[in-house]
Amino acid sequence: MAIYMNEPSRTFGEYLLIPGYSSTDCVPTNVSLKTPLVKFKKGTEPAISLNIPLTSAIMQSVSDDGMAVALAGEGGLSFIFGSQSIESQATMVERVKSYRAGFVESDSNISPDATLQDILDLKEKTGHSTVAVTSDGSQNGELVGIVTSRDYRVSRMEKTEKVSEFMTPIADMIIGNENTSLKEANDIIWENKLNSLPIVDKNKRLLSMVFRKDYNSHKSNENELIDPQTKRYLVGAGINTRDYEERIPALLEAGADVLCIDSSEGFTEWQRIVIQYVRKTYGDTVKIGAGNVVDAEGFRFLAEAGADFIKVGIGGGAICITREQKGIGRGQATSLIDVAKARDEYFEETGEYIPICSDGGIVHDYHITLSLAMGADFLMMGRYFARFDESPTKKVNVNGNYMKEYWGEGSARARNWQRYDMGGDKKLSFVEGVDSYVPYAGSLKDNVGLSLSKVKSTMCNCGVLTIPELQKNAKITLISSTSIVEGSAHDVLLKDTQL
Ligand code: IMP
Repeated sequence: MAIYMNEPSRTFGEYLLIPGYSSTDCVPTNVSLKTPLVKFKKGTEPAISLNIPLTSAIMQSVSDDGMAVALAGEGGLSFIFGSQSIESQATMVERVKSYRAGFVESDSNISPDATLQDILDLKEKTGHSTVAVTSDGSQNGELVGIVTSRDYRVSRMEKTEKVSEFMTPIADMIIGNENTSLKEANDIIWENKLNSLPIVDKNKRLLSMVFRKDYNSHKSNENELIDPQTKRYLVGAGINTRDYEERIPALLEAGADVLCIDSSEGFTEWQRIVIQYVRKTYGDTVKIGAGNVVDAEGFRFLAEAGADFIKVGIGGGAICITREQKGIGRGQATSLIDVAKARDEYFEETGEYIPICSDGGIVHDYHITLSLAMGADFLMMGRYFARFDESPTKKVNVNGNYMKEYWGEGSARARNWQRYDMGGDKKLSFVEGVDSYVPYAGSLKDNVGLSLSKVKSTMCNCGVLTIPELQKNAKITLISSTSIVEGSAHDVLLKDTQL
């Protein structure tokens, strides 16, 4: 006979937190959201921790290099989507690893043989008045000079005059090199009254530019998630259980700091095979997450297979129609509570703490706090991040409202057959996701800042200053459908404009 779980499985909207005693120390500025990303032994520190408990979903419409840079800048981590060619995924990882806040690739470049007219055309196109002159006119060619609006006067010169005749030549320029830090670059700009500082390598090839006007925007964020050795942002990458023997080496070569098997269902032998491959080839140096599971049995399987973290959640994603299509899944809160219990038991038994990630289904900011209280060490979100400027998708106007596109990896648009592959034919035979719009919400920095200020404030209401304290001390209550009604504005006539 089948096994029946007679309790209904539940989701975040059915629970609330009950306040705990808050001392005067319980203020949001004292709250730390630092949390482990990968497993560690009792009494030791994890090899990688996040400064905020947020990761962005392994999805085409969410996590490219732009998202990864923005999120690492705030202390979280992106997993670059794997449903693309190995080369293009590795290129995205490389771009994150070569990113240095404040150092920008020069987008206005010209050769010394070009003319004043070419400079004017370029300025029109890019809107930038500083043009790097490189021997071949390319972005990373040998730097031979610079042209700014101070170098020419359109009314007094022929438009056919050669750039080499009026540029400021490199001999008269102040330049930085690979070892110049952002602080040093800013000091040089300041002391020499420059508008920009070109950075070149030892062969004088142009690497990047630092601009005076960017000074305020690139003062570093104390939370940013960087590798202390290389001072570069951390980045993750999604992999699948098919081409991992080619994909993993390429991603590691590109600099990926952590991998995650991206699959709609992780309680499978395929996942064990991939984790074993990583352990055999790289030992413990390469970190790999696995999932998704929704119960203790699935957790234990992946824990014993050697996963560094385990993702929880099936069927709760905003764009997900897996439950409708296949009738599998489980309410996200119940899944999390069950898996967190299994994680704690495993820790008691083995002394090994395996972080768990609540993946999908976050609708309100308070769901973030609830999922942490229920035992998640960090979260993965798709819809949440898709709404921001930094997501890779188009911003479109729908009926007068700005929206961003957001589609599932199991949609016909993404065609990510590996994620749903159960062996056999290599094609997506039925979809498990939809293509949609989500309301445009502005910058990641502003939104993450606001969401986390709510999380911190609620943690203070619960009388806790860290995520482990929240997991240990939170009091959580189930609520009836009538109290859900009581929870939003009721019995009042809402005015049109809310202040
Ligand atoms: P969201 O945060 O609610 O938007 O959920 C994002 C999560 O949904 C991802 O991290 C995936 O686990 C899952 N997901 C992504 N694409 C699909 C799909 O097409 N069908 C089902 N689940 C998906």
